[in-house]
Amino acid sequence: MKISVIGTGYVGLVTGVCLSEIGHEVTCLDIDEKKVQSMRDGISPIYEPGLDEMMKRNIDRNRLFFTSSYEEGLADNEFVFIAVGTPQSKNGSADLQYLNNACKSIAESMRRDMIVITKSTVPVGTNEHVKRTITQHLQEDYKVSVVSNPEFLREGSAIHDTFHGDRIVIGSEDEESLNRVKQIYADFELPILATDLRSAEMIKYASNAFLATKISFINELGNLCERLGANIENVSKGMGMDQRIGEKFLNAGVGYGGSCFPKDTNALLSIGNSVDCDMAIIKSVIDTNEKQQRIIVDKIKEFVPDLTNKKVGVLGLAFKPNTDDMRDAPSIKVIRELVDSGAEVYAYDPIAAENARVYLPGATVYKDSIDETLEDMDFAVIMTDWKDIKEYPLEKFNEQLKNPVLFDGRNCFNLQEMQKYGVQYHSIGRPSVGI
Ligand code: UDX
Repeated sequence: MKISVIGTGYVGLVTGVCLSEIGHEVTCLDIDEKKVQSMRDGISPIYEPGLDEMMKRNIDRNRLFFTSSYEEGLADNEFVFIAVGTPQSKNGSADLQYLNNACKSIAESMRRDMIVITKSTVPVGTNEHVKRTITQHLQEDYKVSVVSNPEFLREGSAIHDTFHGDRIVIGSEDEESLNRVKQIYADFELPILATDLRSAEMIKYASNAFLATKISFINELGNLCERLGANIENVSKGMGMDQRIGEKFLNAGVGYGGSCFPKDTNALLSIGNSVDCDMAIIKSVIDTNEKQQRIIVDKIKEFVPDLTNKKVGVLGLAFKPNTDDMRDAPSIKVIRELVDSGAEVYAYDPIAAENARVYLPGATVYKDSIDETLEDMDFAVIMTDWKDIKEYPLEKFNEQLKNPVLFDGRNCFNLQEMQKYGVQYHSIGRPSVGI
């Protein structure tokens, strides 16, 4: 099938590359000419395990193309996926300027009837708006059908999630376009849920907000566990064994970040406000998450009251492992707080350091290894549970640090194990050891 994908961010590029992998002829379109050039050479603008190889393979097979021209991008294709960004605007709502621009450009370049499939996360009712906008700007009398097909992929495992996700949601306005879009996914062995347009749009926000709720819930409980001398890890395990609750997304930590949860929870709150619907749960999920990053700084200040000229090694910067994405990473707030309190920050991340420079200009000295980051530091803070950080030999914390004091925002280590190595170890929702 002949498919166009507009926008080559995470969602668009992974979708386009995966659809070409199963045999479709896919043209990915982006207005950034430089990005298009390097993608033609098989270089992905994002870090995603396995993506470069899959890109190169399908470029060589002549079924994956990149362009910055709408005429070339749409050509005589039957389907166009819209996967442009919908960033958060000042009032918390989703900013639809890129989507609107894409709709106008599609209308101007369409040369046949098309099915327009929205992958971007968009407020409820947007697909109807997409149809209106394209129809208004059409040059000739073509039929435009709209379909909502939200994505649920996680950064770092985006390819796996595309092929092995839990479901494919297709919201449509008519049987015919539903069946055509089902055909695109015919080789995916995944359950398909067909809904109306508005419910499909809602499923995306609802799913992300629910996962964010699980995280804020467990973080709040973790804070309570600390005060009561319980251990949140054991509590999560005990809760997760109840299949109605489920064990996933119950890891306490420094809170969620990334390109989706913060933006989508805020957008959902704003959607609720716009129709005068009280979103008390979502509001407190957001508040709890924002507080969670303060809490680790408060804990640091409890044990190191004067941070002036203290040398701090920060391990991990990305909002989670296996990505170089720094968007809304909890490390940003924590490092800014430490620096504002007079500390000198030395940081390590296996791949996100380059992006971190943009978010933390001048605030941090970047180091190339964990050893170097810990050497001679007054204490260390873990912000991302990267594999190499989790597998760092425990005895080395004591050897490298000036004072063996470790604040772990991701509960990377076992308390009993840590106790053997003489490190003062503070984590989230668990008793401190080595004090
Ligand atoms: C998320 C959704 O999982 C995905 O379905 C959606 O399409 C996009 O948003 P992503 O942002 O890539 O994906 O990351 P995810 O793995 O879900 O983690 C989000 C944040 O939650 C990270 O900061 C992570 O560290 C945090 N998290 C996750 C926790 O703090 N505790 C947990 O138990 C799980």
